[in-house]
Amino acid sequence: MPNLLTIDDLSNAAIEAILQKASYYKTQLLAHHQKSQHLQNRVVTNLFFEPSTRTLNSFQLAESFQDMVTLAPHLASSALTKGESIYDTLLTMQAMGSELFVIRHKDDDLLNQIEQWQLQAPVINAGCGQTAHPTQALIDLNVILSRFDALDDVVVAIVGDIKHSRVAQSQIKLLTQWGVKNIRTVGPASLQNASPHTSVTHYDNLQQGLNGADVVIRLRLQKERLGEQLALDMDDFVQSFCITPKTITYAKNDAIVLHPGPCIVGEDFSTEFMTHPQNMILSQVAVSVPTRMACIDFALNCL
Ligand code: CP
Repeated sequence: MPNLLTIDDLSNAAIEAILQKASYYKTQLLAHHQKSQHLQNRVVTNLFFEPSTRTLNSFQLAESFQDMVTLAPHLASSALTKGESIYDTLLTMQAMGSELFVIRHKDDDLLNQIEQWQLQAPVINAGCGQTAHPTQALIDLNVILSRFDALDDVVVAIVGDIKHSRVAQSQIKLLTQWGVKNIRTVGPASLQNASPHTSVTHYDNLQQGLNGADVVIRLRLQKERLGEQLALDMDDFVQSFCITPKTITYAKNDAIVLHPGPCIVGEDFSTEFMTHPQNMILSQVAVSVPTRMACIDFALNCL
């Protein structure tokens, strides 16, 4: 069974199949309050070692609408607190019948370890360190494709903390793989990193970075991941890179604005921008459940 740890696990055919299946779930099942039956009573274990609202709850809903049995060990009262390793916990849950794991963790190296463990049950990465958050990137691609048929000429500006963001790494990889040729990362130099993709250009000025953009993605400052001392004046950063009804006019008139959440109001978006018509943040949340249902099908070879 295939893991879904990074975008590298997905061929374009698999991405296409996930998007099509997500569309089917949204329009044919969820719109009619119906469940899918083909994974009925299959067991999935959610292990979230970091906080989450969107990813955890949308996976729980996705599993429920797939009619699966969800196990969610309470980590603070699990055998992990007695010294059991994550590997032994996974083997234990697998022996209990778990056929799929959905894992969020802060440790970037966990993805390599999962590859080496070669579990029988596949693993879906629900956000790992600064490395990857592939299902969020699929959700964002789904929203972008709901507005644009082809992405060859679409200009995407990703604004904020690119360097510490697992979402940014997965978005850049997925959008590039899907044919986007012009991706701009917009923010101060201390929050950017060198990209291996020729599709990516860095900007340190919001007006220049947003000029001509069709899609603007704002990412929050990953305060929990700032290992190094960051030379960042927060007031200046917010003044320079906050998306407001005024600063969004730097982009194209019909640009859409995404944010994977959690959105820090007053830093990422101004209060006024939270209800702005170009703000797609709740559309992203709405499409997360059918998209994650399709990701579960991918991992269980049921697309
Ligand atoms: N986008 C995202 O991962 O949000 P949560 O941390 O709420 O899951």
